[in-house]
This record gives sequence, C-alpha cells and structure tokens, in this order.
Amino acid sequence: MIKDTYAGTLRKTDVGKEVKLAGWVHTIRDLGSLTFVMLRDRSGEVQIVFDRSKHGKLIDVLDEMTKESVIYVKGVVKAREESTVNPNIPTGEIEVEPSEVKILAKSDVPPFPLTAPEDKLSEMQRLQYRYIDLRRPTMRDMLRKRHEATMFIRNYLSDNGFWEIETPYLTKYTPGGARNFMVPSHNPIGTFYALAESPQIFKQLLMIGGVEKYFQIARCFRDEELRADRQPEFTQIDIEMSFIDEEDIRHLIEPMLAGLLEKLTGYQVETPFRVMTYEEAMHDYGSDKPDLRNPLKLVYLNDVFGNTGVKFIASALEKGDNVVGIIVPAIYSKSFLKNLEKELKAEGAGGLLWFMHKDGELVSTITKFLSDEEKQKLLEVIPEGHTYLGVVGEYPKANEIVGRLRNRMANELGLVKDGYEFLWVVEFPLFEVNDDGSIKAAHHPFTMPIEEDIPLLDKEPLKVRAKAYDIVLNGYEIGGGSIRIHDRDLQKRIFEILQFSDIDGRFEFFLRAFNYGAPPHGGIALGLDRILMVMLGKPSIREVIAFPKSKGGACPLTGAPAPLYDDQYKDFMEIAKAAKEVYENYKMSKMKEGDEE
Ligand code: AMO
Repeated sequence: MIKDTYAGTLRKTDVGKEVKLAGWVHTIRDLGSLTFVMLRDRSGEVQIVFDRSKHGKLIDVLDEMTKESVIYVKGVVKAREESTVNPNIPTGEIEVEPSEVKILAKSDVPPFPLTAPEDKLSEMQRLQYRYIDLRRPTMRDMLRKRHEATMFIRNYLSDNGFWEIETPYLTKYTPGGARNFMVPSHNPIGTFYALAESPQIFKQLLMIGGVEKYFQIARCFRDEELRADRQPEFTQIDIEMSFIDEEDIRHLIEPMLAGLLEKLTGYQVETPFRVMTYEEAMHDYGSDKPDLRNPLKLVYLNDVFGNTGVKFIASALEKGDNVVGIIVPAIYSKSFLKNLEKELKAEGAGGLLWFMHKDGELVSTITKFLSDEEKQKLLEVIPEGHTYLGVVGEYPKANEIVGRLRNRMANELGLVKDGYEFLWVVEFPLFEVNDDGSIKAAHHPFTMPIEEDIPLLDKEPLKVRAKAYDIVLNGYEIGGGSIRIHDRDLQKRIFEILQFSDIDGRFEFFLRAFNYGAPPHGGIALGLDRILMVMLGKPSIREVIAFPKSKGGACPLTGAPAPLYDDQYKDFMEIAKAAKEVYENYKMSKMKEGDEE
C-alpha cells in the first residue's frame, strides 16, 4: 500500500509515530512562513504543517499543490500547541510534520467548493460531478451508513435462516402495476425482455422450488412517474417465506427495522409496532400511510349537521357523503382561508368549510345559515382559539384531501413530534378503480384475498379485502407485501377479474408451477432507499444513492437517457421493423388458436 494510515484516525496517542498518508487536499491555508494543508481521505482530515524555513525542498511541491489534488505525505505526528488545538475535528489535537510529499494527481479547480453548505450547492451540478460530491463528508458518511445498513440486514436475515438468492433482471413483462422498461434482444430480433420491476414472480417460484426462506437486496426498474421518494431504479430488501401467516412477517421485520434504526441513529423504538386496518387509517387520518408523529385526527361533523338547514350540507349527507376536516390550534385571516380554499379546489374539493372559535364566538362564512343548536355544538367541538378546516365530499376522496391538509397544517404549525413512528397498515382492498372505471390490483395480482371475502369476488370485487400489509415510517410507505395466492384456479380467476389479455400466453409459465405442489407462502419488500432517506432524515432518496437519477429521471453525469448514435439508430430501426413482424405473427397465431377452439 502507498499509505499505512487513515488520516482521520490519528490521535494524541499517535504522537511521535511516523506515518504514510495519502488522500485529497481539502484546504490550503497560507500564513506566510507556515502553510496548513488539510489532507482528507475517507476516514476524515488531518492537518499537515509546512514550515518554509525548515522544509525547503517540500515547499516546491507545496507551491504546485491545488485543492482536491491527490497527495502522498510521509511525516511524523506531533502534538499541537494548546492554543492551536481544534476541538471541532477528531484529529484536532495533533498535526503531521512532513518529511516527504508527492503530488500523485493534480486537480483542476473543482466546479463547486466542497466546503460550502449543501443547500448552497446546485443539485444538477452535484449530480454531474457526483464523484466530487461523494468526497464531501456528508456523502461519505451516507455511503458508509448505507453499507453498514445492508450488512446489518444481510446478517440479520442470514442469522434467521434466509438464503440470499439472485433472480433475473432480464425477464418477461409482468403486471405489477408500474410500466416496465423494455430491452430489445437480437436472439431473435424483434423480441424483448422487460427489466424486472421486482423479483415478485421469481421469489414465488423459489418458494415452489422448496427454498422456504429467501431474501435478496435487489435492484428494481420502473418506468413510472417520478417523485422525491421514487427513482426509476431503486433497491428492495426482498423477502419471501413459506408456511407462514401475516404475523410471522411482522415478527421477522420488526426487530430488523428497530435494530437498523438504532444502529443508524441511536434511536430506540418499542416493538411490536402499531397495527391499523386500511379502513381505520383512511377514516382517522385520510391516508393509507399516516404519519403518527402528527397528533391531528380527522373530525367528522355529520352528527352536528344531522338536521341542518344548510342546503349543500344536507344534500351531501343524504347522498352518504361526509363533513370531514381537522381542528387546528390557530386562528386564520380570511385571505389565508380564501387561498387555502383555492388550493383545495385545485385538488378536487368542492370548497373549504371552516369554523373559527374566536373570543367565545363562532366565525364562519355560513354562520347566518346555522341554527343556534348547531352553533352551540360547533363551539363545543372546536376549542377556543382553534379552527375547523374541512370539506364536504365522498369517501375516500374527501378523506384524502383532508389527509394531505392534515400533513400540511401540522408541519406549518410545528405540531409534528421529533423521532420515529412505525405503523403496519393491514387489510388493504384487493382491487381499486382505474380512472376509466375498470378495476386493477391494489397491490399486485398475486395477493391472497381474505377468506371470508372470497364469495364477494364476482359480484362486489371492490369490497374484497386482501391479506396485504404495508409498513409505514413517519408517513412514508417503506415496504409492502402480502400472503400470496398458491392455488392455480384462484390465481387464474384473479387474472380474469382483472381482464388481462392473453392470460395463457402471459402467465402459463407461472400458473403451471401451481400444478406441482405450491406451498402457502408470503413475503414483503422493503424500499432500502426510502428507509435510509427517512432514518437519516434526508429530503429525497437521491441523497442516499451513490449515482441517482435527477428529479426528471436523467443522469446528468453520463447524459442518459440519450439519443442513439448512427449505428445504434440503424440497428434500432431494424429492431422496430422486426418487432412489428414478430408482433403481427403472434397476433395471427393467437387468432388461429381462437378459431380452432
Ligand atoms: P411495492 O411495489 O409496494 O411491492 O414495492 C415495495 C417497496 O419498494 C419501495 N419502492 C420504491 N422506492 C423507490 N423508488 C420507487 N420507484 C419505488 N417503488 C417502490 C417502497 C415500497 O414500499 N413485489 C412487491 C412486494 C411484495 O409483495 O413482496 C413490491 O414490489 O418502499
């Protein structure tokens, strides 16, 4: 090794030692006769002191040095004088007096100063020069923590009898919900792989293959709309087990997440975590991933307005809609409420219904239409100095609007507690409705319905609950899973209810496996990036990924996604031509099969 010591590990106990260091020039401070160079490597920084009167030849090298150059320094560790001790860095009690210095690679002026505060840096520039950004202590610490997290998880699962098994990334289109990235193949030309959006099908096949306990730290690819907590490629801690029920998954996952949180942050949470049904979460919090650090709950005023003369409320209640809102400890100006109403309308609300309890009085735009009894009840429900902010509308849309308002107002009023709150949300619906009125799997089509709801499958599918669960941390869905269907007929029936085209062509390989002894099984996938984002308190998942895509899905470092070069374009046009032929032939053969049947 060129070096024998990590710079950031040096302490007072090392005084007198000769060390060989190598790393980057973090800062250069020239004080005339003395120059201080901070040498940084992945362990931290140490100060190298150059004395112009003593270090004649070395000074020539020093004068060549630029910030971020890679240097080698051999020298002796010295104690700093009392007055120059720096308590802010771990190596602050010592410095190194050099005897040999080399520049191993000179650096141009970096595009941004590595010592500047993060919020002053442009994210696009950080992503374009990610290799420089990664040198910053915050990013270096993040990479180390991410490594420690994956090792912790690997060891935990291995100690609990799980085998880490890799499944294909190049696979066949699967209906998980997200659009797949398609990868053209030349064998034969005109056919395509899909990049796996998750190992779902393969992990189920592993259970049928007798593995019983599987895990994988797997990359997933999804060509979907991006958000702060979504990337087109991301990492799952993917888990599957045979012969289990929902509780077994919780018992496995809770100590792992609690242990990981403690390892990364020192924060301790109690197990078991809270468990709430989807129904309860939507009713009380207007979200299937409520942040329980937020003390606000949804408040329904249906009873207050049971006999109301306010027409729009009376007719809404008659239809089965709700008056749903939150009560916040604040009094607002009319202009604030007007703006808020505009924003809620943009989200699809009919309007904003608000009541303030101010100086013993009820203030609202509809006070004059209220009966004395209604006013009295509202003054009882809404404490002095508080405001009710609500909407009148149907479940679950109205709840979701108020759910978002709940988050926003709690943040604005500083009501959200510090710390971490885990929550299981269970009994999700099996299906949900698409914008066009058709139905889709709420999670994915391999999820087992709750037995007592199976008779509803044909007539009232939207009422069927699933053996599906999400794990939520501080309002983020950090994982989701389910007990799976392991019966061929039921699985086929679900595909049919979902009206998948060409079920045999798409899924026969999967359905066939159920003919050969499929064990009852279930599992979960945790979003590693999201877990790290929330546990480490980062504003986006881009901050916990070494080379993430930008907000818009691009890679500013490489320029991907990019137009094709000439030869690739030619190739692609041939692929497109062949794809058309292959597709048409396939369609024809399907039609023939249909005719023969
Ligand atoms: P699901 O699609 O819910 O389930 O994904 C599981 C978890 O992965 C994370 N996640 C993402 N993270 C970053 N960027 C994305 N685009 C993204 N999409 C999802 C979330 C989510 O909770 N096969 C099933 C799991 C199972 O049933 O076992 C699946 O993939 O944290």
